[in-house]
Amino acid sequence: MKATIAVLEGDGIGPEIMAEGLKVLDAITARYNHDFEYKRGAFGAAAYFSEGDAFPDESRAICDEADAIMKGPVGVAVREMNRIPTEKRPELAVLELRERYATFANYRPAKLPSSLSIFSPLREERLGEGVDILIIRELTGDIYFGNKREGTDTGMQFAKDDCVYTEEQVRRIATIAFEEARSRNVRLTNVDKANILATSRFWRQIVEETASSFPDVTFQHVLVDNAAYQLVVDPTQFNGVMLLGNMNGDILSDEAGGIIGSLGLMPSACVGPDKVFVEPVHGSAPDIAGTGQANPYSMIGSAALMLEKGFGLKVESNLIWDCLFGVFEGGFITADLATAVKQGKILSTAEFGDRVAEAIRAG
Ligand code: IPM
Ligand code: MN
Repeated sequence: MKATIAVLEGDGIGPEIMAEGLKVLDAITARYNHDFEYKRGAFGAAAYFSEGDAFPDESRAICDEADAIMKGPVGVAVREMNRIPTEKRPELAVLELRERYATFANYRPAKLPSSLSIFSPLREERLGEGVDILIIRELTGDIYFGNKREGTDTGMQFAKDDCVYTEEQVRRIATIAFEEARSRNVRLTNVDKANILATSRFWRQIVEETASSFPDVTFQHVLVDNAAYQLVVDPTQFNGVMLLGNMNGDILSDEAGGIIGSLGLMPSACVGPDKVFVEPVHGSAPDIAGTGQANPYSMIGSAALMLEKGFGLKVESNLIWDCLFGVFEGGFITADLATAVKQGKILSTAEFGDRVAEAIRAG
């Protein structure tokens, strides 16, 4: 197939891991005769410092025209970040991207086959058959997008963020989560804070209404605090699909990254009605930028998600996943895993990408 992909490298390790994502995509296009054109755009803190805008107009136009967007992480060291005015911060550009393309469904797979359970900080016996949780995070509502206010008009200084969910927002993400659970033939766990929050009670009610159209899907509700606890104690009980609102999904997806051994193992896809953009779950790690220590797995996995969710190329996407695991199963690790994992040869960012690309050509 023919497609145009906007490439926003971002900051810190962004350019390095993006290079590996594209290297792997090139191996896929060669093997399956696809024709992907990459159009690069500035995005993030670097874009702010060079152009005064973390999401410059030119990049916006590139993204508007592209079939899909690949985005690296954004952000620079704290001292430099503090030189950026609040309303110009690169995190807001990320939110703008999500809002602009209404990418309400965020897929964050946390996968660790039992063959790699040594990567996890948990003892092997807690990992059973391996972790395979598809976190589905709502991405365009919740406390992230409600009104914000800081003031003193109550006689005291205060700040507030409104937490809002509409029926349509909940229904569409719940439907996606149930469809995923049905197609994978797995259990769905809905996570919320319905014992306290009105938005969560509402969320849960819509999830239950949606469930009635999916009688074949087993599902359960778990409160978010308990889900955070259970994830550490017994993660595989959640194998299947986990449905979360924006804020809870942000937090528990980082936790899931910790459980499988590194945030560097967490790719993500943001899916909207007519555009998909993919981005790693982790940040830009400015401290290791340029050292070849970054793990490109999350960017390569994000490319796989783009092929699957954006272009419907399931075979290609599965091959990337197999090759990613294959490199680790071949006895190699990346630097982010090395503090905890004492076995395996450490590959640099580019060496890891080379091995995945080679395996794709050979596969
Ligand atoms: C993530 C990040 C973002 C979020 C930031 C960069 C806006 O933490 O994608 O998880 O909070 O959603
Ligand atoms: Mn996050």
